[in-house]
Amino acid sequence: MEKKKAFYITTPIYYVNDVPHIGHAYTTIAADTMARFMRLRGFDVLFATGTDEHGQKIAKSAEQMGIKPLELADRVVIQFQNLWSVLNIKPDDFIRTTEKRHELVVQKIFNRLYEKGEIYKGEYEGWYCVPCETFWPESHIENNVCPDCGRPVEKFKEESYFFRMSNYQERLLQHIDEHPDCIKPESRKNEIISFVKRGLKDQSVTRIKSSLNWGIDVPFDKNHVIYVWFDALINYLTVAGYGIDDKKFNLYWPEAVHLIGKDILRFHTIIWFTMLMAADIAPPKMVFSHGWWTSEGEKMSKSRGNVIDPFQVAGEFGTDAFRYFLLRELSFGLDGNFSRQLLIQRINYDLANDLGNLLSRTVAMTVKFYDGTIPVPSHSDELYDKELQNLAEEVVAQVIVHMEQFSFNLALENIWSLIKRTNKYIDQTEPWLLGRDKNKKKRLEQVLYHLNESLRITAMLLYPFMPATSDKIWQQLGIKNKIEDMTIPEDVSWGKLEPGSKVNPGDNLFPRIEEEKKNIANAVEVNSKNIDKKNEGFEMESQQLPTVSLADFQKIDLRVGKIISVEDVPGASKLLKIKVDFKSEIRTIVAGIKEFYLPEKLIGKSIVVVFNLAPATIRGIQSQGMLLAASEGQQVVLLTTDQEIEPGSRIR
Ligand code: MSP
Repeated sequence: MEKKKAFYITTPIYYVNDVPHIGHAYTTIAADTMARFMRLRGFDVLFATGTDEHGQKIAKSAEQMGIKPLELADRVVIQFQNLWSVLNIKPDDFIRTTEKRHELVVQKIFNRLYEKGEIYKGEYEGWYCVPCETFWPESHIENNVCPDCGRPVEKFKEESYFFRMSNYQERLLQHIDEHPDCIKPESRKNEIISFVKRGLKDQSVTRIKSSLNWGIDVPFDKNHVIYVWFDALINYLTVAGYGIDDKKFNLYWPEAVHLIGKDILRFHTIIWFTMLMAADIAPPKMVFSHGWWTSEGEKMSKSRGNVIDPFQVAGEFGTDAFRYFLLRELSFGLDGNFSRQLLIQRINYDLANDLGNLLSRTVAMTVKFYDGTIPVPSHSDELYDKELQNLAEEVVAQVIVHMEQFSFNLALENIWSLIKRTNKYIDQTEPWLLGRDKNKKKRLEQVLYHLNESLRITAMLLYPFMPATSDKIWQQLGIKNKIEDMTIPEDVSWGKLEPGSKVNPGDNLFPRIEEEKKNIANAVEVNSKNIDKKNEGFEMESQQLPTVSLADFQKIDLRVGKIISVEDVPGASKLLKIKVDFKSEIRTIVAGIKEFYLPEKLIGKSIVVVFNLAPATIRGIQSQGMLLAASEGQQVVLLTTDQEIEPGSRIR
C-alpha cells in the first residue's frame, strides 16, 4: 500500500490563567476542521492542542487565588478539555507543558544549544510585560507600558542566559525568502521581514529562581528556570515525538502548520524559527496567523464585560452553527466582528432556509413519490441535470483549492453555491408536478436521484466544518458508510449514491430562530430584508421617535463618501452593492435603492453614510455602513452634499 502523506496541525497552547474564550475556540475549530479535511484527503494527520502552564502570569494568578500554580492549571485544563468536547473538536494529542515528557524535551534542546555555544550566561537589564510574557529593551518602552498590549511593564536587572538570536538575522531572512509559504498571510510575512531587517538582539531565555520559580529548570544551573516562551514553543516538537519517537518525528516534522493569532506571530516565526535553526532542526512548513474577533463591534475585554463565552454560544445556538459561523463569517487572516444578530441571520438564512429546507424537501419528496427509496438513475441529457452535476464537480475542485489556502470562508461559499443551485433545481424541475403525471415517472426518478446525490456530496464537503450535521444528513439519506471513512475527491464524484437504499426522514436540521423578528427595527434588518423582500425599507412613516440627547446623537459618525462603483447583488431585485471612497478606506455598502437609481447615475455622487454602524452581512456581502436617503411615498432620494467636499469629511 502506498504510504500516506503526513500533515501535522497545531493550535497555540493556551495559558491557564483564564477560562477559554472565543479566540481559543476559533483557532481550535479551524485546526479541527483542517485536520478532518486532510484526513478525508487521505493524509496521515496529527492534530494537537494543549495548555501553556508555566511563567509569571500563571504564577501571579495562582498566588492571587491563594493556590499552587499546578492546582490552577489542573482546574483550567478541565475547562479547555470540556470545551473541545462540546465543540466536537477531536485532537490526537493534548499537551500540558507541566508533563514530564515535555520537560525532558525542553531540557534536551536547552542543553544542546548550550553545548553548541548558542546559549551563554549574561545579565538582563530591561523591561518585562507579564500579560505578554515578553522582554522589552529600554529603547522600545515609552511611558512604562508594553508596546504590544499597552499594559504596564516591570523593570528588572538579573542574571540570565541568552540565546544568540542576533546571529540568525540573515539566515532567517533567507529562509523566509526560500520558503515563501512559511508565513501566512502575505501581509503578516512582510511585517515580520521588516521587523527582522531592523536587527535581531540576543534573546533572554531564563529567569532567576529568586524572582520566578514556576518553570522548567535549566538542566545545568538550578538557579534558573527556562523562559516560558522557550518552553512553550517546544511543545510542537514534544508532540511530534522529538527525542522520544524518531519514526514519528521524521514522519510529521517539518510538515507542521501552526495556526495562531496575529499577536503571537513574532514568537512563532522569529524566536521559534531561529531556535530551531540553532538546534539544527528545520523550521515548520507554515505559520498561519489569523485575525481577531471583536464583540458587537468592540474590542473584547474583561473590563468591558463583553468577552464571548464559547460554552454559552454553543449551548444556545448549537455547536455546528457556532463552528459554521466562525469559519464562514470572515476570511481567516482578517479581523471580524462577532454579533448575535449576524449569527442568527446565518442560522436562519444559510442553515435553516438553504440547507435545512433542501434536506427536508428532498427527503419528504423521496418518501412521497418513491416510498422513500433512492431511485435508479437513468441516463439523462436534461440541461438542468447536467448543470447541477457540473457544478458539483466544480465545487469539489474549488473547495480543495480553497482549503489548501486555509480559505475556510471561500470553501463554504462554494459549498453554498451548490446548495443554492440544488434548491433552484427543485424550482426548475418541479417534482410535485412530475409526481402527478404517470408519464413523467422516469423524469421524476432522475430528479429525485439528483437531489439526493447533491445532498450526499454536500454533506461530505461540509463534514470537516459541521461533523454532526453532516452525519445527520447522511443518516436521513439512508447512507450506511461513515463519512470519516470516505476520501475526497474519489467519493465525492457524481453518481456514488447507491440506488435502492431508503431515506429516513428526521428532525429539522436547524430550526429558525425567531428572536430576529424582535429586532426588526434594527437598521440592518431594514436594509437586508424589508427592502429586499417587501420594499418597506423607507416607509418609516411620520412616527413619533423619542427625543435623543446631543451626547447620544454625537455617537453617530456621519461621513461624506464618494461612490466609485455600483454592482448588482446576484438574486436580489432591489439591492445594489456600492463601493464608497472615504479617502482613508474604501467600503462596500449594500443598499436597497436599485429601483430608484440607475447604477451609472450613482457613480461620482457624494453621499452621506452612517460610518460607525455595525457591519452586517446581506446576501453574503458584508455591508460596512448605511447610506442616508429621504423618502416620501414611492419616492426615495439620496442625501448628497451641497458642494464638492473631500471624501471622508465628518458631518457635525
Ligand atoms: N500561551 C501562549 C501561546 C503559546 S503557543 C506556543 C498564548 N496563549 S493564550 O491563551 O493567550 O492564547 C491566545 C490565543 O488566542 C492567541 O492565538 C491569540 O491570538 C488568540 N486570541 C486572543 N483573543 C482573540 C480574539 N479576540 N480573537 C481571536 N483570537 C484571539 O498566547
